[in-house]
Amino acid sequence: SKDELHARIRAAKKTLGERVVVLGHFYQRDEVVEHADFVGDSFQLANAALTRPDAEAIVFCGVHFMAETADILSRDDQAVILPNLAAGCSMADMADIDSVQECWDQLEDLFGTEPDADGRVPVIPVTYMNSSAALKGFCGEHGGIVCTSSNAATVLEWAFERGQRVLFFPDQHLGRNTAKAMGVPLEQMPMWSPRKPWGGTSPETLRDSRVILWHGFCSVHRRFNVAQIEKARADYPGVRVIVHPECPMEVVDAADEYGSTDYIRKAIAAATEPTVFAIGTEVNLVNRLAAEYPQHTIFCLDPVICPCSTMYRIHPGYLAWVLEGLVEGEVRNRIEVSEDVAGPARVALERMLAARP
Ligand code: 13P
Ligand code: SF4
Repeated sequence: SKDELHARIRAAKKTLGERVVVLGHFYQRDEVVEHADFVGDSFQLANAALTRPDAEAIVFCGVHFMAETADILSRDDQAVILPNLAAGCSMADMADIDSVQECWDQLEDLFGTEPDADGRVPVIPVTYMNSSAALKGFCGEHGGIVCTSSNAATVLEWAFERGQRVLFFPDQHLGRNTAKAMGVPLEQMPMWSPRKPWGGTSPETLRDSRVILWHGFCSVHRRFNVAQIEKARADYPGVRVIVHPECPMEVVDAADEYGSTDYIRKAIAAATEPTVFAIGTEVNLVNRLAAEYPQHTIFCLDPVICPCSTMYRIHPGYLAWVLEGLVEGEVRNRIEVSEDVAGPARVALERMLAARP
């Protein structure tokens, strides 16, 4: 039963003590979050992986790219464990290293590799955290950097100081929304995809481009739409609409504010007057915030279509199974990034950790 499962998790954690640290992303279901030592957004969890170098094992309740990142940043002898190996991310899967290399080769053919008079190279690659370790390694090798949804603008500034333009992957929406807010016109953001490399973009437009967007998207966030926001405004005059920057541009434009999962949490925590919040992000987080802040009315812009199905694959049963494995001296579901990829990926991640607004 459910109670038994929770008792098993608690017992294993008690036996393991400081030997294990359990990390949980905000999108995890409540039955998992209640066992996490740290809960946070992807940036906070990357840092959390560094704060416990004494732990033998980091159990990452999140998705595959997050566990890879924790493995890259943690000590070599620390085991990073993903309770269910099928917890991937459909957005991360939309950019594979061969296609990124193909795009990069085309960019080199177009713009060469020589810096301009200000010392800025033609293109700086920027990958969203939601990508495979191989892509982070690609960025590390090519003067690029990683970003998360909480530091995308800071990271783009970093990149514009060093490059004439940015190749941003995999999330077109985070790239477009962030660059637009920084004043980059839409016509300077052509999009690349393997099937339709430049989507009919002219050579002049490519030359003037500032951000080259990859065609990827989050299948959860792209389902939010403007009609939902209009309905929320009609139903609740004065509602505050906050959405995640993985939402399409017209949704971000129609909202009052946008930001990472931690931004959303902080905005609600900071509201002093009872407020109605309509939120455009994963429903497990929104429901938890609604329970945590009963003085406010908090709802998901669409609660039916917006759980992240891969985050949901971390079931408490798997958590119990990997923790009990550790008790028995067995590391189950270890995520290990080979050093030839981890080395350059670490360079790109450390650039991000060092980039400050
Ligand atoms: P953040 O945790 O950076 O807000 O990202 C949301 C997300 O989609 C993670 O997969
Ligand atoms: Fe990937 Fe979207 Fe799920 Fe985040 S919410 S893990 S981007 S599919």
